[in-house]
Amino acid sequence: MTETCTVCKRKPPVYFRKYSGEKLCKKCFCESIEEKVRATIAKYEMLEFNDKTMIAVSGGKDSLTLLRILHKIEQEFPKAEICAVTIDEGIKGYRDEAVKLAEQAYAELDIEYTVLSFKELYGYTLDEIAEIARKRGKGLTPCAYCGVLRRRAMNIAAKKANATKLATAHTLDDEAQTVLLNLFHGDVWRIARVKPVTDEVHGGLVRRIKPLCEVLERETALYAYFKKIRFQSVPCPYAGTALRNDIRSMLNRMEEKHPGIKYTVFRSAEKIREALEESLEKGELRTCEVCGEPTVGRICKVCEVLEELRINVE
Ligand code: FES
Ligand code: ZN
Repeated sequence: MTETCTVCKRKPPVYFRKYSGEKLCKKCFCESIEEKVRATIAKYEMLEFNDKTMIAVSGGKDSLTLLRILHKIEQEFPKAEICAVTIDEGIKGYRDEAVKLAEQAYAELDIEYTVLSFKELYGYTLDEIAEIARKRGKGLTPCAYCGVLRRRAMNIAAKKANATKLATAHTLDDEAQTVLLNLFHGDVWRIARVKPVTDEVHGGLVRRIKPLCEVLERETALYAYFKKIRFQSVPCPYAGTALRNDIRSMLNRMEEKHPGIKYTVFRSAEKIREALEESLEKGELRTCEVCGEPTVGRICKVCEVLEELRINVE
């Protein structure tokens, strides 16, 4: 007897989901991912029926998959709206292709979008920033600059578009890595702050949601493949710190041997977070004296970084 899909019991399976033991055909696999995203959105109350959600799309497999799935879900809610943003950090020979792929997807799905570049926003491309930092011999890594500046750029784009939520494509892998990264850095309080939906802490900060936070990265890749989504697969030339890369390979090895372990790490962090939140005072955010964006201190990190770059250019 030939084997059939665990769910539909008709078609031949193409994917074995190790952590659940299911063998799925293409159609049932794709539906299971969409269902998972719907369930995650409901579980964490990520969306309200009349939200305008801006999706941050880099052009990679995760964000293009998220775009596709949220576009589908949105059609079930007549009052909900989606739009998208692609941040062009200015990385020669890398970002240009990704922006093109994102724009093709927007056109195909007929989605309102903006492309916002570091250059127009801050006066420098990431390549220029990396060069300044390199010449100076100190400062942050390009990726750390990128993180700070990209987060701000997304918030600015979301406010401009009157979006009420900002969705990013962090997967279960990203989330599990971040938990361990924070632990290995000794930054336990951060575990409380990184979560599937950010709290409403400041009127100027659009709340961020991560609808793929319970989907394995290899499954978003497979979804993209089955749905024939064209995405950029070369990694960013500045990609990640050595530590995150080590944690990624460690978790992948562990997941291979002990299916479901990434989810366990994610769940453990949720429990730690609950406990931490009880003793954590909710820090009020202030308004940056220079740019007016939300900040913890008097001057925000972005203005600090830009000021430091300026001094080094002059
Ligand atoms: Fe961090 Fe590209 S700058 S991944
Ligand atoms: Zn500022």
